[in-house]
Amino acid sequence: MAILKIARMGHPVLQRVADPVPDPTAPEISRLVQDMIETMVDAEGLGLAAPQVHVPLRLVIFHVPPARADDDHDEMPLSVLINPEIEPLAAASGSGWEGCLSVPGLRGRVSRFAQIRYRGVDLKGEPIDRVAEGMHARVVQHECDHLDGVLYPMRMTDLRDLVFESEWKHIAGPGTEEAGDDLLD
Ligand code: NI
Repeated sequence: MAILKIARMGHPVLQRVADPVPDPTAPEISRLVQDMIETMVDAEGLGLAAPQVHVPLRLVIFHVPPARADDDHDEMPLSVLINPEIEPLAAASGSGWEGCLSVPGLRGRVSRFAQIRYRGVDLKGEPIDRVAEGMHARVVQHECDHLDGVLYPMRMTDLRDLVFESEWKHIAGPGTEEAGDDLLD
């Protein structure tokens, strides 16, 4: 196990389209996931995408603990999602604050689909097919964007909502810190 170095905005690995994982059951993929989990926990993120640790493969990890869920139904235990595909289910999109370990020190307000279906496989190669809402849907969309070279500021429609973390704490209002900040990965 090891804590991996996180690539920051501007690094080419964050700008390219990642490659499919040829064999999700391969031992090196398990080792990568273990290191990604350790890195995510150390950084207090909700998720992590393989390109963020300089590995250009279509693999993400994420979780939504109760303290970070919008509602009971969008809590999610730690998940490994390999070769994912996302299908929007709701036309309506929700706007919320996001942060990214690859864009340190900033927060931005981003619109995401409020409900999605996502599919992929886990480390055993077993299929995953879930419907997600709320923070669960947001984190999956944020992580999977990393696989296509998209960082959250590229999803923003109003760059006045791209702010430094220290300023964001004033904007986001009282109670925000108790609820945890909106750092996603
Ligand atoms: Ni990110």
